[in-house]
Amino acid sequence: MGVYELLKPALFALPPETAHNTTHRLLRGVQGTPAESLLRDRYVVNDERLRVEAFGTTFPTPVGVAAGFDKNAEIPRALAALGFGHVEVGGVTAEKQAGNPRPRLFRLREDEALINRMGFNNEGADVVGDRLEREPAPNVPMGINIGKSKSTPLDEAADDYLYTYRQVADGGDYFVVNVSSPNTPGLRELQNRAALEEILGTLSDAGASPLLVKLSPDLPKEAVEDALGVVDEIGLDGVIATNTTTSRPDELKSPGRAERGGLSGKPIEGAATDLIRFVAERTDVPVVGVGGVSDADGAYEKIRAGASVVQLYTGLVYEGPAIARDINRGLLGRLDRDGFDTVEDAIGVDLE
Ligand SMILES: Cc1cc2nc3c(=O)[nH]c(=O)nc-3n(C[C@H](O)[C@H](O)[C@H](O)COP(=O)(O)O)c2cc1C
Repeated sequence: MGVYELLKPALFALPPETAHNTTHRLLRGVQGTPAESLLRDRYVVNDERLRVEAFGTTFPTPVGVAAGFDKNAEIPRALAALGFGHVEVGGVTAEKQAGNPRPRLFRLREDEALINRMGFNNEGADVVGDRLEREPAPNVPMGINIGKSKSTPLDEAADDYLYTYRQVADGGDYFVVNVSSPNTPGLRELQNRAALEEILGTLSDAGASPLLVKLSPDLPKEAVEDALGVVDEIGLDGVIATNTTTSRPDELKSPGRAERGGLSGKPIEGAATDLIRFVAERTDVPVVGVGGVSDADGAYEKIRAGASVVQLYTGLVYEGPAIARDINRGLLGRLDRDGFDTVEDAIGVDLE
C-alpha cells in the first residue's frame, strides 16, 4: 500500500482548502531538510530520454506543477523533490489579496475533479518577489504565473501586470500572463486582441522572456485564433492551454457540480487536449499542456497532440505525491512501445 492510500482518507475528511494547506505546510516543513533528499530519492526519475528543450529552457522531465498549487512560491524545491520537472508558482498579483470568502474550493470526488473560486488569494508581488530573492531556486525550471489585481480596472491591466513582472523578474525561468482565470471579474475579457496586444506588448518591451500566455478552454475558436495572431505578432515564446472551465459537462455526478467557479480535473481532460491540438496546429511556438492529466496515458496523449511539456494540479490531489514519478516511468514505457527514442520525438506526432 502506498503512503498516499493511508493519508488520503484523512486528508479527504478535511475541508478541501484545509487539506491543501496541511499538505502545503508539510512540504514547506520538508523543504531544505534531509527529508527533501529522501523524497528526491523516492520520486525523481533521472532519464535523459525525458528531457525536453522548449522556449530556451531545459526541462529534465515533461511533467510540471500547474499554477495555483504554490501561489506564493513557498515550496518549489519540495515539489521538484516529488519528481516534477518544472514548477509554475503563482498566480501572483501586484496587490496582496485575500481572495473570495470560504468555502471556495470543492472536491467533486465521483468526477475526480475540483471546482475553485479562490480569486487569486496571494501575498502580493512585493512579498513573493522578496521570497524569490531570498530563497534558493529549485533545480528545475520555475515559471511565474502573473494575474491581475481585483481592484485594478481592466483598462489599467497592463501596468498592473508590469508591476508584478518587475517585482518577480529575477526569480523566474519563464513568465505567464494569466488572462484566463474565471474568478476575477472581467479578467477573461482581456483575451481579446487589443487587450492582449497591450498587456503582452508591455511585458515583452520590459524584457519579460520567455513569455507565455495562458488561455481558457471556454474561448471561442475565433478568439483563440486572434490570440495566436498576437502571439506571432509580438514574438511570444509559448502558449499554455488550458485554465479551468466555467462550463459544466453533463456527465458530472458529484453534488458539488453546482458550485460557481472553475472546473478542473478529469472532466476537462478531453477539451484541454483538443485546445492543445488546435493551438499546436496553428503556431510554431511550444505549447504547455494542462487539464485533467492524472496518468501516463493522459500526459502522453497531450504530448502527442502537440504539448512540449504538461502540467497538472487536480491529479496531484487525487493520485498523491507519486504522480510525477508514475507518469515519468509510464512515459518511458510508452516511448519504448512506440519506438520513440525521446519524449521530444513524440511531441505533436498525432497532428495532421
Ligand atoms: C485551487 C486552484 C487554484 C488555481 N489557481 C490558478 C492560478 O492562480 N493561476 C492559473 O493560471 N491557474 C490556476 N489554476 C488552474 C490550474 O493551473 C490548471 O490550469 C487547471 O486546474 C487545469 O489543470 P488540472 O486539471 O490538472 O487541475 C488553479 C487551479 C486550482 C484547482
